[in-house]
Amino acid sequence: MEILHEPKDMQQWVRAQRRTGATIGLVPTMGYFHDGHLSLMRLAQQHADIVVVSLFVNPTQFGPSEDLDRYPRDLERDMLMLRREQVTAVFVPTPELMYPPGFQTEVRVQHLTTHLCGRTRPNHFAGVATVVTKLFNIVQPDVAVFGEKDYQQITVIRRLVADLNLPVRIVGGPIVREDDGLAMSSRNANLEPLHRASALSLSSGLSLARELYRKGERDAASIAATVQRHILSFPFTAIDYVSLIDSRSLEPVQQADAHTRLALAVHIDGKVRLIDNGLLSPSPQDGNI
Ligand code: PAJ
Repeated sequence: MEILHEPKDMQQWVRAQRRTGATIGLVPTMGYFHDGHLSLMRLAQQHADIVVVSLFVNPTQFGPSEDLDRYPRDLERDMLMLRREQVTAVFVPTPELMYPPGFQTEVRVQHLTTHLCGRTRPNHFAGVATVVTKLFNIVQPDVAVFGEKDYQQITVIRRLVADLNLPVRIVGGPIVREDDGLAMSSRNANLEPLHRASALSLSSGLSLARELYRKGERDAASIAATVQRHILSFPFTAIDYVSLIDSRSLEPVQQADAHTRLALAVHIDGKVRLIDNGLLSPSPQDGNI
């Protein structure tokens, strides 16, 4: 497995691979891998000859009071997992290499980033859009794979690619969950055992919303209110948002239909912020809860 740190070296390596006619798949990550990440690497393998994983805890997408310092990291373990997945190359830059002195350019997707996570994290998606644009320019992938766990993120990236005519195809991977329903996340490592039951309020809230929809409830406010009550019935939970949105526009809906998605963000004990989402009427391939 090739390990590259310098953007210039990565660009050069990928150019050489391209000359052999190989297609390139990119999986951008912040490391501390779990099965969700690995599922994206396997999906990338189905769509491209060569898979490149980027591993970079991007400081610009964290707010000043967020968990950049506490974000879990274990490079050695991650490298072992990448080797096991037969990833061809990993791009591991440092913040100094990605944002050298004098850096002053930003990519900002406007409207999609103002609600849901963007409301409490106003600069988060500009950080994501900028680093992902840089990664696309550095790796020049034919295909890039993102998880639907971060549904607003993949929607923003699809918009960015369309708006800027970036020559890359975006593929989405379904949410991978623990056996008990908890959506896998690197941040789950920061959950204390005592708080784990409260973390399950997100996935069980999603199941509850689906059950209401299946029984014929279509009033979005009523479904959201029931899910809120459910989440708040667990100790240590504080709601950031419980929103019923249209899957394509991310706009809130009043009447639920086949395109309606429940999107959730919940703080657990003020320390760990968890997100989850899902269609109210999922098809079988949409997930396991
Ligand atoms: P990170 O949180 O490491 O996630 C990397 C990719 O894994 C993202 O596309 C995310 O949606 C996906 N992912 C995370 N948990 C998942 C799960 N349980 N099932 C399926 N996919 C899952 O998202 C980021 O990093 C960063 O914002 C990044 C795009 C790398 C830009 O810095």
